[in-house]
Amino acid sequence: MTRPTIKVRCFRYDPETDAEPRFQEYQVPMEDGEMSVLDCLRHIREHLDPGLAFFAGCHLGFCQRCTLRVNGKVVLACETTAGGDMDLEPVNADEVIRDLWCGST
Ligand code: FES
Repeated sequence: MTRPTIKVRCFRYDPETDAEPRFQEYQVPMEDGEMSVLDCLRHIREHLDPGLAFFAGCHLGFCQRCTLRVNGKVVLACETTAGGDMDLEPVNADEVIRDLWCGST
């Protein structure tokens, strides 16, 4: 049986090589049980696009290194349940190191 998927659009930008930021869309299969936004990002990087950059530390809601925007709202990716289609952006686009990883996190 095919697992349901969600559409995840990720902000992509490398200040060293890209003239403009863009969004890249991925179809992420939902796992059984609850799946966090960070789980989605790990799935993308492990199975769909190893070049996607994001940052995370503790995976427990303490370090705040996984802070980003989901559909415009600032959240911790490891503490936020994935559901529905999502637009993922860095918390501060002016401080992007690459993609979803920015200097303020
Ligand atoms: S990875 Fe540490 S708070 Fe999310």
